[in-house]
Amino acid sequence: MIELPAVKRIIYTEEELQRRIKELAGQISSDYCGRPLHLLAVLRGAIPFLADLAKYMTLDVTFDFLSVSRNTETNHVSLIKDLDAAIDGRDIILVEDIINEGETVSYLLQTLKLRSPKSLRICTLFDRPEAHKLPIAPDYVGFNLKEKFVVGYGLDYKQYFRNLPYIAELDL
Ligand code: IMP
Ligand code: MG
Repeated sequence: MIELPAVKRIIYTEEELQRRIKELAGQISSDYCGRPLHLLAVLRGAIPFLADLAKYMTLDVTFDFLSVSRNTETNHVSLIKDLDAAIDGRDIILVEDIINEGETVSYLLQTLKLRSPKSLRICTLFDRPEAHKLPIAPDYVGFNLKEKFVVGYGLDYKQYFRNLPYIAELDL
């Protein structure tokens, strides 16, 4: 059996997360007013965020999913699960859990741009601007994070803690 560290401190409560996600959904709904919007989520971390964000939107919304893996030695990002549907001519928002160095999002943007979407924006729940190694400017950001490592609400430690409804630091 795996021994998991304890939660040390709650950084954002469920209420704080939901309040901010409602604001983001409101902003996106007014920016895209009357246009159908196709949301792409990066598995697995962005799933709780996508579900709540979409729930609060007042647009005609569709979803699709993709998954990437990042080689920790070479930093090389590769697609391990592609989208099911084509995105050409569609308004797209890529929904991410967190942008750290920016490698993952930058790879995805490059890949998706080649498929000629009508528009392509990024919405991330968390961003660590000081950690960016690539010039990435997300269009919608929930919170800027100063903590080095957090779990919950999709974010994992060894695949665990994704189901917490809040964001926390672990006692590592
Ligand atoms: P980047 O390519 O360096 O921007 O890394 C982004 C990815 O690293 C995210 O999609 C997460 O999967 C993971 N990640 C970054 N920071 C954290 C964290 O604090 N907790 C859990 N996963 C994280
Ligand atoms: Mg991720």
